Amino acid sequence: MNIGILGTGDVGKVLAAGFKTAGNEVMLGTRNPASGKLTDWLAQAGKGVQAVTFSQAAAFGEVIVFAIGWAHAKAVIDLANPASFKGKVVLDTSNPLFFEQQGQPPVLALGHTDSAGEQVQRWLPKARVVKWFNIVGNSHMVKPDFAGDKPDMFICGNDAAAKTTASELAQQLGWPPVIDLGDISKSRYLEPLAMVWITHLFNTGFNVNHAFKLLRK
Ligand SMILES: NC(=O)c1ccc[n+]([C@@H]2O[C@H](COP(=O)([O-])OP(=O)(O)OC[C@H]3O[C@@H](n4cnc5c(N)ncnc54)[C@H](OP(=O)(O)O)[C@@H]3O)[C@@H](O)[C@H]2O)c1
Repeated sequence: MNIGILGTGDVGKVLAAGFKTAGNEVMLGTRNPASGKLTDWLAQAGKGVQAVTFSQAAAFGEVIVFAIGWAHAKAVIDLANPASFKGKVVLDTSNPLFFEQQGQPPVLALGHTDSAGEQVQRWLPKARVVKWFNIVGNSHMVKPDFAGDKPDMFICGNDAAAKTTASELAQQLGWPPVIDLGDISKSRYLEPLAMVWITHLFNTGFNVNHAFKLLRK
């Protein structure tokens, strides 16, 4: 599958490498692909991943991953050309984080009656947005392994077929089938859940080795 990834932060790069290893063609979108900032990383990633502009990555992707810090989310959507998203599955990893004080955990810039997932869907009304992978640190996004056990991933979105694709792509990366919470408004619950993950990170001296699992009996 052709996957366009918007974002060259840790999330974009980890997912690009994971999807490439799983056999997909990946284009990683950035403001200036010629800047050289990705040269070393691309050399390590090898064939099957290219750095391109945000608009080229969005046009290329059959599925588009949105992996941008919230402060620049709208700017990147505008750069990526919203027309390119029509009908496509958009996997939205974003959390609407606002950093009030250095060294302190961020707060949510949106919540309770709205969410980043809903905002991304409003910015891209013709896309099929799925909130996906926002509740785990990037170091465990690919082949998560917690002493032989795997965490669970919760998702939400308005389109059933898009959520099936989202689950298949999660499984390509070594996750169990995802747990679907419902429509995109359930991002209002998934984004605070990311704050649980982030708060625990701060409380444990930035230990990233935790993830969520739903226990059943
Ligand atoms: N980090 C994690 O482990 C983690 C886990 C779960 C969810 N998330 C969420 O996933 C999303 C991505 O996180 P991240 O840490 O990987 O990414 P990030 O570093 O916050 O964002 C990277 C992207 O932001 C773009 N950017 C920076 N300044 C910009 C500007 N002024 N105008 C336009 N674009 C600008 C960069 O563009 P260039 O490529 O041009 O530099 C880059 O592609 C976030 O919403 C985060 O909350 C993160």
